[in-house]
Amino acid sequence: MAREIEFMPGYELHEKQRRFIKARSTHKHRRFVGGRQSGKTDIAIAEAVLHATIIRPGGTGAIIGPDFPRAQEARDRFNAYCPYELRRWNGADRRWTVKANGGLESTVHWISLSNPDAARSKVLDWGCLDECAMYSEEAMNNLRPCFAVKEAPTWGSTTPKGMNWLEKETKEDDVFFVHCESIENPVFPQTEWDKAIKRHGFDSPFFKQEYRGLFQAFIGQAIPQFDRNKHVGSYPHNPDWPVFSGWDFGFRAPTIRAWLQRNPGNDRVRLIGCRAWTETERRQILLPKNMKLNGIPADAAVWHAIDPSGASPRAGEAGDRGWRFAMEERDWDVRWTRMVSETRRLNLMRELVQQDLLVIDKDCEGAELMIEAFELAELDDNLERDRLKDNQHPMADILDAVGYAVVEMFGALPQPLAKVI
Ligand SMILES: Nc1ncnc2c1ncn2[C@@H]1O[C@H](COP(=O)(O)OP(=O)(O)O)[C@@H](O)[C@H]1O
Ligand SMILES: [Mg+2]
Repeated sequence: MAREIEFMPGYELHEKQRRFIKARSTHKHRRFVGGRQSGKTDIAIAEAVLHATIIRPGGTGAIIGPDFPRAQEARDRFNAYCPYELRRWNGADRRWTVKANGGLESTVHWISLSNPDAARSKVLDWGCLDECAMYSEEAMNNLRPCFAVKEAPTWGSTTPKGMNWLEKETKEDDVFFVHCESIENPVFPQTEWDKAIKRHGFDSPFFKQEYRGLFQAFIGQAIPQFDRNKHVGSYPHNPDWPVFSGWDFGFRAPTIRAWLQRNPGNDRVRLIGCRAWTETERRQILLPKNMKLNGIPADAAVWHAIDPSGASPRAGEAGDRGWRFAMEERDWDVRWTRMVSETRRLNLMRELVQQDLLVIDKDCEGAELMIEAFELAELDDNLERDRLKDNQHPMADILDAVGYAVVEMFGALPQPLAKVI
């Protein structure tokens, strides 16, 4: 007969996992909101095994995942923790039967919410919701009635995902929340923790959400190291230093020009102006020679780093030789490189911001536009791609324009250690 779950020798529940278990007697619904690898799935599945065997013998529960691969992970973990002699898998119905105390038989459904309707019409005695922050609000709303009839307990184990429905649950009385950092799991290596802090910054929204298990509004922020309290100040145009500019051409969206200077003493890059044009008339944008922008003559830039797509004539415009030619006609030094990925540009800006080497002059033209871009520009929904979401005009365009310029300034790649000659 099952009495308690027995973990491997040397395995002890950590503090947050114990708190989560303890809240079983005080709260109907519990949420273990933790960083990656904080021990969420482990504790949630342990609870499922306990419910199937001891707490709700003869009952019907469900182990639920947001999509097929994640649901599979939960299924494998259940198989690992529920003794083989006690369970029988029925593949056609996607459920286990589990020998429970008192000679009873429990049922455990295995559900992937890749179909948000998958659980509808089931009446459940308990629910184990792994990675539940990834469930759509629709899927969660479909799920709730399954537990309503029997006032069944649910427990979720998850990394947060923005300020979605899960964050709203923190305001409900019968939902218990515990937040757990990845490092609170004793097997999470300190070196990995330190590396992640160095990469993302301890206070970045990404690190807070993904490693500290905290609710964050702006996840997927492109430059999470940016902090307006640190990186915005009085950094006016210094007439003794050279001026550079970066361009992102708008074929559909605005054309952006950013003005930059680099402090020769400390390498700090100052963003000293930014303008967005919505018209596409090139003569207007390239300005008459004697006109000043931001108090700086239009021709003052030492070089202009441009969007590589503007470097060649475009087929669609017969007789138009492109931005590069129009700029070179004004004797501008036009530069571009095709070999730099968007990720590399973003990483260079992240590095500079993290080291406080990239700052915005608060009084310049376009300051608000640039601050907004650094603060709010988001990554593509598929975070692994590490690219800007491409429908965020002009924020993404501003980061592009600044990115072309800093890549030109600092080089696309670190200097090679050796050269073949
Ligand atoms: N208290 C603990 N002591 C030792 N190892 C643990 C503990 N909790 C979890 N683990 C192990 O840490 C790893 C990550 O746990 P897991 O539950 O998969 O994390 P998460 O679901 O939060 O990403 C797994 O190998 C798990 O067995
Ligand atoms: Mg997990």
